[in-house]
Amino acid sequence: MIYLDHAATAFPKAPGVVEAVARFLDNEAGNPGRGGHRLTVAASRAIEAARTEVAGLLGGDPERTLLGPGATHWLNAVLAGRLRPGDRVVTSALEHNSLMRPLRRLELERGLEIVVVAGSDPDGVPDAEAFRAAVAAAPTSLVAVNHASNVTGAVLPVAEIAAAVAPTPVLVDGAQTAGSLPLDIDRLGVAAFVCSGHKGLLGPPGVGVLLLAEGFHLEPLVLGGTGSRSESEEMPEHLPDRLEAGTPNGPGIAGLGAACRWLADRDVSAVAAHERRLIGRLADGLAGIAGVSLHGWRDGASRVGVLSFTVAGSDLGELAARLDRGHGICLRAGLHCAPAAHRRIGTFPGGTLRAGVGPFNTEADIDALFAAVRRIVDER
Ligand code: ALA
Repeated sequence: MIYLDHAATAFPKAPGVVEAVARFLDNEAGNPGRGGHRLTVAASRAIEAARTEVAGLLGGDPERTLLGPGATHWLNAVLAGRLRPGDRVVTSALEHNSLMRPLRRLELERGLEIVVVAGSDPDGVPDAEAFRAAVAAAPTSLVAVNHASNVTGAVLPVAEIAAAVAPTPVLVDGAQTAGSLPLDIDRLGVAAFVCSGHKGLLGPPGVGVLLLAEGFHLEPLVLGGTGSRSESEEMPEHLPDRLEAGTPNGPGIAGLGAACRWLADRDVSAVAAHERRLIGRLADGLAGIAGVSLHGWRDGASRVGVLSFTVAGSDLGELAARLDRGHGICLRAGLHCAPAAHRRIGTFPGGTLRAGVGPFNTEADIDALFAAVRRIVDER
């Protein structure tokens, strides 16, 4: 099997993840922070060690590094926990439904004004000046953007955007960049950074991360037990407890900690360079096949290892199935839960075939994909 669907989820996971998950379940599976017996202490230690690894890799403060069920959960938590009736939010035309669906719901329920900024380049990436102008037009409560499109891999200049719109807080959806680009959240200058644990961070599914800048406050979306201040029926004021109600996914978090440790040892810059090289090779190979079009691709643009393409006259779902069944190559066809991005790059409603590379892919994997696409095209 050649796995080229890392934009959906990484496979395989980082070395050490399976062992950390098993270790937690076998030896550490108490309920962290609930009581004081040895197993609860072991669980707390494992989770706090993992939190420190995650924060260290992403450049966050461990106390303000929140661990929850996924990136979607944390995007919902920031939007619902921050936005008030009538607030104005500026976003991009390249967003995933994990951001757009909660925003649209809040538009109905809280009367938000949502302003969508679209870039004029073929990859649809708006520049920082476009955000500055949108925010300058009227009082704005939040800028919410993804760091890289899950459809095209194009990277948005979030540090420049944050500087251009300051002091308006910026929420970044880093689902496609954490673990795939070197990051230092402090230096990005954003108020909140959200990412999945199971994509570029190479951890198990079921864990997502929220990093909060000092001074950026949220009302909790989910309320419940925390193991702390149990005398009160109000959520505690301190982080991480205020935003982490309920029993956490200990095995998943322990696995994510191991993955971040592996990535830190490996060096994310090296991973980023490897993935960029592979996706460049894929773009060159595909561009040479008659009938293949690349979408949202711009030579020289900043990107992660994701590429969208179509093959003229081919049903993309069928093509993906043929690549899987006939060639053992896994990638995802369709709209990738990001209809807005497909509208922007002109591939709605048909969608694209999307390849997403990871640290374990090789040049041979890439060559196998374009050889398979060429064969399928030639056979028609
Ligand atoms: N958001 C994931 C993707 O892009 C699932 O495929």
